[in-house]
Amino acid sequence: MNSENLLVTGGCGFIGSNFIRHLLANADFKGRIINADNLTYAGNPENLSDVAETRPGWYLFRKADICDAAVVRELFDNYGIDTVCHFAAESHVDRSILMPDSFIQTNIIGTFNLLEAARSRGTGFRLFHHISTDEVYGSLGPVGAFTEETPYRPNSPYSASKASSDHLVRAYHETYGLPTTLSNCSNNYGPYQFPEKLIPLVILNALEGKPLPVYGDGKNVRDWLYVTDHCEAIRQIMEKGRRGETYNIGGHAEMENIAIVEMICDLVDEFAPPPKGGSRRQLITFVKDRPGHDRRYAIDFKKLHKELGWSPAESFASGLRKTVRWYLDHRAWSERIRSGEYQSWIREQYGERE
Ligand code: NAD
Ligand code: DAU
Repeated sequence: MNSENLLVTGGCGFIGSNFIRHLLANADFKGRIINADNLTYAGNPENLSDVAETRPGWYLFRKADICDAAVVRELFDNYGIDTVCHFAAESHVDRSILMPDSFIQTNIIGTFNLLEAARSRGTGFRLFHHISTDEVYGSLGPVGAFTEETPYRPNSPYSASKASSDHLVRAYHETYGLPTTLSNCSNNYGPYQFPEKLIPLVILNALEGKPLPVYGDGKNVRDWLYVTDHCEAIRQIMEKGRRGETYNIGGHAEMENIAIVEMICDLVDEFAPPPKGGSRRQLITFVKDRPGHDRRYAIDFKKLHKELGWSPAESFASGLRKTVRWYLDHRAWSERIRSGEYQSWIREQYGERE
């Protein structure tokens, strides 16, 4: 990728931290990464502590809030930013239902501030890559898949705020000629995912013998992608994708939630047999459904495959196995982030059971 000073926003979160590690391991990337993150509950500098130590000079962290236009402008000026990869967002659908304000601020206003700062760099600016989600397309029936031509029909405050940011990115390309690319990806899983999301939440609860909450009838379908496959797709789009274009990214791995929860139970039983015998499947608990819960997502990524040759390397079975192993091997990481704030979220979302 041709960049001297790459601003990665939200680099201390799940996908951003995996992306920074992935990029620094790629021999073709010669630039400097400036990671700007304001460290919300989901941002954890520990996700990159090894990188910070081994790549001084090539990797810098700055605590910065993208909602503050002056701070964003200062970042661009101080570091001569020529490229942006924009991950920073409020990302959890359930939180957006209970407290939508910060989703509007970060996902819409934050993106606007970054686009304005990028525009002010003039012709020296190379690329603004915006990370988005398949949730902007809404919910599918039992057949079919989202293409880049599917109309936007977001159903949650989260997906509506992401849709809004996508439209801004498109408008800055059309109106000001800003060089942009945009990717809409399906559900990611893998190391360093905050345990409010289905897969890490279920792994940790299963290990601790706690109830495994499944919303509604458990038959909602998501299309799962291992996080490093997402990172490689982003790298390729930034390097070779056509400017002004959108690319869908997916895993060809449609799964019902209940099937995933059962697979996790079996993997945890295999790696850490329950002391008193039995199966972790006994912990599965059906709970009240998420309001406006999208029934099914599936991604058609033919455009990305045809134009850039990308396809996922990891199958769902192999990726899930690696992920469960990672959480078992990094208990100290999850213990540290399951802070007071995390505990109060769990109480508010799932009741007093915890
Ligand atoms: P995450 O919640 O794990 O991380 C978000 C990061 O952004 C955190 O480090 C947080 O501190 C930072 N951040 C939040 N508000 C900020 C602000 N105002 N200023 C600076 N930093 C701020 O999220 P994730 O799962 O890594 O998702 C990253 C991006 O990918 C998001 O844009 C999300 O919409 C998109 N996405 C996620 C998935 C998924 O399955 N997780 C799938 C498709 C797209
Ligand atoms: O599709 C991409 C999106 O995937 C991203 O844009 C979002 O940032 C990311 O959070 C994710 O959204 P989901 O809502 O699909 O992910 P989550 O892990 O929250 O839920 C996955 C499915 O599991 C969903 O159908 C709801 C269900 N679920 C979730 C939790 C947390 C449960 O049944 N029980 C739970 O406790």
